[in-house]
Amino acid sequence: MKRFNNGFFHFVFFLICHPFLLGSGLCMDPFSYVQSLKPECLMEPPQTNNTGEELKINENRGNQIVIERVDIQKGNIYSISAWVKLRNVSERRVRVTLRGKNVRYIDGGQVMAKNGCWSLLKGGFIVDVSVPFDIFFKSDGLAAAEISVQNVRLKRFSKTQWRLQQDQVVEKIRKNKVRFQVSFQNKSAVKGSVISIKQNKPSFLFGCAMNYRILESDSYREWFVSRFRLTSFTNEMKWYTNEAVRGQENYTLADTMMKIAEENEILVKGHTVLWDDKNWQPSWVKAITDPEDLKNVTHNRINSVMKRYKGRLIGWDVMNENVHFTYFEEMLGKNASAIVFSLASKLEPDIPLFLNEFNTVEYARERVGSPINVKNRMEEIVSYPGNMNIKGGIGAQAHFTPNQPNLAYMRSALDMLGSLGFPVWLTEVDMPKCPDQVKYMEEILREAYSHPAVTGIIIYAGPEMSGFNKLTLADKDFNNTEAGDLIDKLLREWQQEPAEIPIQSHEHNDEQGDRIIGFSPEISLLHGNYTVTVTNPWMKHLSTNFSFEVTKEMGPLQLVQVKIDS
Ligand SMILES: *[C@@H]1O[C@H](CO)[C@@H](O)[C@H](O)[C@H]1NC(C)=O
Ligand SMILES: *[C@@H]1O[C@H](CO)[C@@H](O)[C@H](O)[C@H]1NC(C)=O
Ligand SMILES: *[C@@H]1O[C@H](CO)[C@@H](O)[C@H](O)[C@H]1NC(C)=O
Ligand SMILES: *[C@@H]1O[C@H](CO)[C@@H](O)[C@H](O)[C@H]1NC(C)=O
Ligand SMILES: *[C@@H]1O[C@H](CO)[C@@H](O)[C@H](O)[C@H]1NC(C)=O
Ligand SMILES: *[C@@H]1O[C@H](CO)[C@@H](O)[C@H](O)[C@H]1NC(C)=O
Ligand SMILES: *[C@@H]1O[C@H](CO)[C@@H](O)[C@H](O)[C@H]1NC(C)=O
Ligand SMILES: *[C@@H]1O[C@H](CO)[C@@H](O)[C@H](O)[C@H]1NC(C)=O
Ligand SMILES: *[C@@H]1O[C@H](CO)[C@@H](O)[C@H](O)[C@H]1NC(C)=O
Repeated sequence: MKRFNNGFFHFVFFLICHPFLLGSGLCMDPFSYVQSLKPECLMEPPQTNNTGEELKINENRGNQIVIERVDIQKGNIYSISAWVKLRNVSERRVRVTLRGKNVRYIDGGQVMAKNGCWSLLKGGFIVDVSVPFDIFFKSDGLAAAEISVQNVRLKRFSKTQWRLQQDQVVEKIRKNKVRFQVSFQNKSAVKGSVISIKQNKPSFLFGCAMNYRILESDSYREWFVSRFRLTSFTNEMKWYTNEAVRGQENYTLADTMMKIAEENEILVKGHTVLWDDKNWQPSWVKAITDPEDLKNVTHNRINSVMKRYKGRLIGWDVMNENVHFTYFEEMLGKNASAIVFSLASKLEPDIPLFLNEFNTVEYARERVGSPINVKNRMEEIVSYPGNMNIKGGIGAQAHFTPNQPNLAYMRSALDMLGSLGFPVWLTEVDMPKCPDQVKYMEEILREAYSHPAVTGIIIYAGPEMSGFNKLTLADKDFNNTEAGDLIDKLLREWQQEPAEIPIQSHEHNDEQGDRIIGFSPEISLLHGNYTVTVTNPWMKHLSTNFSFEVTKEMGPLQLVQVKIDS
C-alpha cells in the first residue's frame, strides 16, 4: 500500500489481489498446453485433457517418423505441441515438419530433445494450399538418434479466433484494472467529483529506426518526433562509421542524432558495440592479422563508444549477429563474445545488453540463428565466469519475407527466447513490399505485442526520403502510406486515450469489510505513467493532480483512494 500526501489530499493505493491471476508474470499463454515458458524435461509426458477442436495423434517411434496424415486448410493457423524423447544419443535437435503433395516441406518448430526425459516441442503452421499433409518429427543427424513422440496435439484456429485470443492476452499482460475513490477523511463521499486521466508514457516500447537523413530534413525530423518515443540508429553508431580510419574517431552523426532524440525525449537503443561478421568491420580492422593488435583496437572501440553514450541509452547490442558469425572468436578465441559482454556490463551494468540476431522468429527453416541456438548462445555468455548477473536482452531482428508469416512458429520462437527470462525485443521489423504487406505487418506486430516476453518493438522503416525502401510509412510529401496508417493506428491503440471518469455515489463493503463510498467504475488501463486530475464542479478549490504508474506488478485490480482533509 502506498500513501501520498499532496497538500490537503492523501492518495492511498491498495492492491486487491485475485489469486487466480497471481504469480503469473510470464506464464499466461492460453494456446500452449502447458502454462509455463520454462518447461522442464519431464520423466513422464503429462496427460493433457482434450479441450476444443483437436487432432489426437498416436505414439510412434523412429528417427524420422511420419506421425499422421492430416487435412490442413489454408487460411487457418495450426498450433502444434508434442512431447519428445531420445534414445541412443544424449541430446539432439528434433523438428516438426509438414510435407504435402507438390509442397516443399514446411518447418514448424523445434526442440532440443534429451535422452531419458520428455521435452516439449511447440510450433505450428500456416499453409497456402489445402491438401493432405504428413506430419513428420525428425531428428538432426544420424539414424541412431531414435526418437519417441507422445501426446501430439494439433489445434486449428481461424485468423479471427487467433486475433481474439491475442486481444485476451493483451488485456491480461498489458493492462490492469483501476478503480478510483474520492472521499472526505470521515469516509463520506465527495459527490460529483470527476477523475481525468491522461497517459504520459506507455510502458510498452514501440519505436522506429532512424538514419542520418533525419539531419538533412526538418520534415523527416518532425514526422519522426511527433510519433515515436524509441529508436535505434541504422549505421551511425557502428564501428565502421565511428572509426573509418584507424585512430580517427568521428562521432558527429551519432552525436547529432542523439541530440535530436534527447531533445524530444526519444529513447535510444545502441546499435552496435561490435559486429561478429568479418565483412562489416572497418576495412583497416579486416586487414589486421596480429590477434594482440586486434584485441587492443577492440578494447579501445568498446571503451570509446560505450563511455561516450554511457547513461544515455536504454540498451546496447553488444556483439551483433554472433550466432551467425564468429569473426572475433576466430581471431581472439572461443570466449570472445562472452568477454566482450563482460567488459560491456562493467561499463553499463544497468541496461540490457542484447544479443541481436536474424531469422530467429521470422524464418522457420533457419538452422544457424534458430531460437534454440540463440538461447544456447546467450546461456553460454551468461555462464562465462563473472557474467552470471549481467542484464541480458534478446533482440530478434525480424526481417520478414513477403509471404504469409507463420504466426504459430513465431509464437513458439518467442516462447523459447522468453524462457531465458530476459526482455525480448523485435529490433528491425520489416517486410518487402507485396500485395498483403500491411496485413502481414499487422499480424506480426500484434503477435509480438501479445507475447508476454516481448517488451519492445522497433520497426525498420521511415518516410520515403529516409531510404527505408521496404517498409515505407510516408510518401515524398510525408502523406501516410497504408503502412503508415497501420503504424499510426497501432501507436494510438497501444497508448491509453485520455478519459474522464465520474465518481458515483455507490456504496459497498470492500474485502476488509470497510465501507467504500463514492467510487468510479472499474477501468482497464494500459501500463504506463499517468497524470490524474481530480475536480469537482461544486468545489472550485478541489482541483489537483498527481502522477502514478500502472504496472504489471501491481496486481489485477488497484483501488486509488483520494482523501480530502477539509
Ligand atoms: C483434466 O480434467 C480433469 C477433470 O476435469 C481435471 O481434474 C484435471 O486436472 C485435468 N488435467 C489437466 C492436465 O488439465
Ligand atoms: C537404440 O537403442 C536401443 C536400446 O536402447 C536398441 O535396441 C536399438 O537398436 C538402438 N538403435 C540404434 C539405431 O542404434
Ligand atoms: C464528512 O466531512 C465533510 C467535510 O468536512 C462534511 O461535509 C460531511 O458532513 C461529513 N459527513 C459526516 C457523515 O460526518
Ligand atoms: C566527421 O563526420 C562528419 C559527418 O560525416 C563530416 O562532415 C566531418 O567532415 C567528419 N570530420 C572529420 C574531421 O573527418
Ligand atoms: C597492445 O597494447 C599493449 C598495452 O597498451 C601494448 O603493450 C602492446 O604493445 C599492444 N600490442 C600491439 C600489437 O599493438
Ligand atoms: C572459455 O571459457 C571456458 C569457461 O570458463 C574455459 O573453460 C575455456 O578454457 C575458455 N576457453 C578459452 C579458449 O579461453
Ligand atoms: C499530401 O500532402 C499535401 C500537403 O500536406 C496535401 O496538400 C496533398 O493533398 C496530399 N496528397 C494526397 C494525395 O493526399
Ligand atoms: C497539475 O497541477 C499543477 C498545479 O496544481 C498545474 O500547474 C499543472 O499544469 C497540472 N498538470 C496537469 C498535467 O494537469
Ligand atoms: C510520471 O512521469 C512524471 C513526468 O514525466 C514524473 O514526474 C513522475 O515521477 C512519473 N511518475 C511515476 C510514478 O513514475
